Amino acid sequence: MKVTTIGVIGCGNISSNYIRNARQYDNIKLAAFADIDLDRAKSKAEENGGDAISCTVDELLNNPEVSIILNLTIPKAHFSVAKAALLAGKSVYNEKPLTITKEEGMELLQLAGQRGLRVGGAPDTFLGAGIQTCRKVIEDGLIGFPVGATAFMMGHGHESWHPDPEFYYEVGGGPMFDMGPYYLTALITLLGPIEKVAGSTRISFPERTITSEKKFGKKVKVEVPTHVVGLLDFRNGAIGTIITSFDVWAHHMPCIEIYGSKGTLVVPDPNGFEGNVKLWTEASREWSDVPLLAARKFTGRSLGVADMAFAIANQSEHRANGKLTYHVLETMHAIHEASNHGKVVELSKVLTDKPQPLFSDSDLSG
Ligand SMILES: NC(=O)c1ccc[n+]([C@@H]2O[C@H](COP(=O)([O-])OP(=O)(O)OC[C@H]3O[C@@H](n4cnc5c(N)ncnc54)[C@H](O)[C@@H]3O)[C@@H](O)[C@H]2O)c1
Repeated sequence: MKVTTIGVIGCGNISSNYIRNARQYDNIKLAAFADIDLDRAKSKAEENGGDAISCTVDELLNNPEVSIILNLTIPKAHFSVAKAALLAGKSVYNEKPLTITKEEGMELLQLAGQRGLRVGGAPDTFLGAGIQTCRKVIEDGLIGFPVGATAFMMGHGHESWHPDPEFYYEVGGGPMFDMGPYYLTALITLLGPIEKVAGSTRISFPERTITSEKKFGKKVKVEVPTHVVGLLDFRNGAIGTIITSFDVWAHHMPCIEIYGSKGTLVVPDPNGFEGNVKLWTEASREWSDVPLLAARKFTGRSLGVADMAFAIANQSEHRANGKLTYHVLETMHAIHEASNHGKVVELSKVLTDKPQPLFSDSDLSG
């Protein structure tokens, strides 16, 4: 099996998760770690073990062994790091969101297209058994044709646990850009591309106080809306509602539900790879648990980048691809734009269809 060498740029909080999960795959190897903070890069190379090295960002970009850059920097740096990777002749897989602006996202897609390289990015949770089981339920017709969907991600922000939570309240942060990618990617996987959106947003608390240990008491100015509500018209005719919020202390809402002409599907937390799938149908008139698709060995963050490496080797399309991440990005912007201008915003036709399903592990390398 061809082993693709991956270089990681951005060695903060989430990088350990990738290090742990990448070990499942024989087709990828995390070989080099870089960060503007070299100590962090060194510590992650050690944590990864094997012969992984730490180096500067420039050294990593110039390393001829590396063919995919795993960009785990903060959102503000996603574009510049990804563009530099593409210019250095490497494919790139970004953490979410793809970039801050739509223009940046489109530039990455075009640059990759011109150079025969790949762009993709998080989340890859939609490739887990939870969302894929839901997709199969819908595609098997068990809930009839999709009528609507609701999605709720509500909490009180990240300043109580994240050691450096400032970026969540800066441009590129906020609950929609932070968590919306999980929910929107799941909805798009289940229902297909979105045609147009409306939205309303607000900032409920203009200042937040960090209560995690390192920066306890530090005040953060809130630059972005922290309660964001979107109305989503899917191209297949289904109508979705999404609320993402850092302003809600407690609630009883589900993560995602899909309503069909013949039943209702409860979708597990799209920030995880598995979870409980529940189905109610007109025929059964009761709730039942849907068993997840046959035991899936591959799970956890790194699945998307492993799939990208397989797809490059097989000359097929990777699932967590640039068009999908761009469509999620444009949808998040459109919700904010719709709120700012009091209008419905039409989306581009960049994404033409759902990504390929991943109903079994063998679909990954096939
Ligand atoms: N923390 C989580 O639980 C979590 C979960 C899922 C996704 N994410 C996403 O992962 C990304 C990183 O989040 P995090 O929590 O690890 O952040 P973090 O602040 O802990 O780490 C980011 C790292 O990137 C480095 N960095 C910043 N700019 C850089 C640049 N230009 N070049 C090289 N290195 C640079 C920083 O020095 C830092 O080490 C974000 O996009 C976030 O949305 C985070």
